[in-house]
Amino acid sequence: MVRKNWIIGNWKMHGTKHQVDAFKKQLQVFADQALLIEIGLCVPSTLIYALADKNQKPFFYPGGQDCSALDTGARTGEIAAYMLADVGAKLVIIGHSERRTHHHESEQIICDKISQALNHKLKVIICIGENIEQYNEANAYAVIKQQLISALDLGDACLEKMIKNNELIIAYEPVWAIGTGKVATTEYAQTMHGFIRQYLSEHLCKDYAQICPIIYGGSMNASNAQALLQQPDIDGGLIGGASLDGEEFFRIVNIAKDMH
Ligand code: PGA
Repeated sequence: MVRKNWIIGNWKMHGTKHQVDAFKKQLQVFADQALLIEIGLCVPSTLIYALADKNQKPFFYPGGQDCSALDTGARTGEIAAYMLADVGAKLVIIGHSERRTHHHESEQIICDKISQALNHKLKVIICIGENIEQYNEANAYAVIKQQLISALDLGDACLEKMIKNNELIIAYEPVWAIGTGKVATTEYAQTMHGFIRQYLSEHLCKDYAQICPIIYGGSMNASNAQALLQQPDIDGGLIGGASLDGEEFFRIVNIAKDMH
């Protein structure tokens, strides 16, 4: 199996049905192409149904941005993993720094959410990354190592299945780069991605570490994508702001596509 590059948009709390329709129309140009990269778009839950057309041959991955840590139950406002899968989501972001910060998500909650998503056959994009204080104090390695240890504390059977079905994507997103326009340098991002791959190799599975996509997030756009994607351990991008502009997002997809 080869390691695939992934370009995944994260619309956060933005978007309307009208924008989804426009996006799908633009995406249509890739429908009949034999792409060597994968495209994903994680939209607010209200838009997944409109994005995921079950009648069409899937050529991109519709996704959610979060799921509940529980299977089902009395949790007003929460969306369970099976509900995302039911409306056609194929992947889900878990542990985004905005959820860790604004929703006070603990490592345990994040691990439980990952487990729920995997139970319902969703590919999981686990977000990890250090904040500005941790970066300034040269604590980034320790922080992301701890985030990986906690997130992957899933039990042997679950990990084995996750590896077998190739359901994991790691998004390295330095918090100080998210939405700030301050993208990490290519050297720094590559070093962190190399560290993550080494961790996966030593603590998860040596062979799987070679095919597991580790994507970069944090102010990626069409101007800096190529330099980042050229790095040997950067296997794509999780793109927030720049994914809201259809033209910009397609420029990034085309950059990634032309590199493979
Ligand atoms: P950004 O967001 O591209 O706007 O920095 C990335 C993310 O939060 O996933």
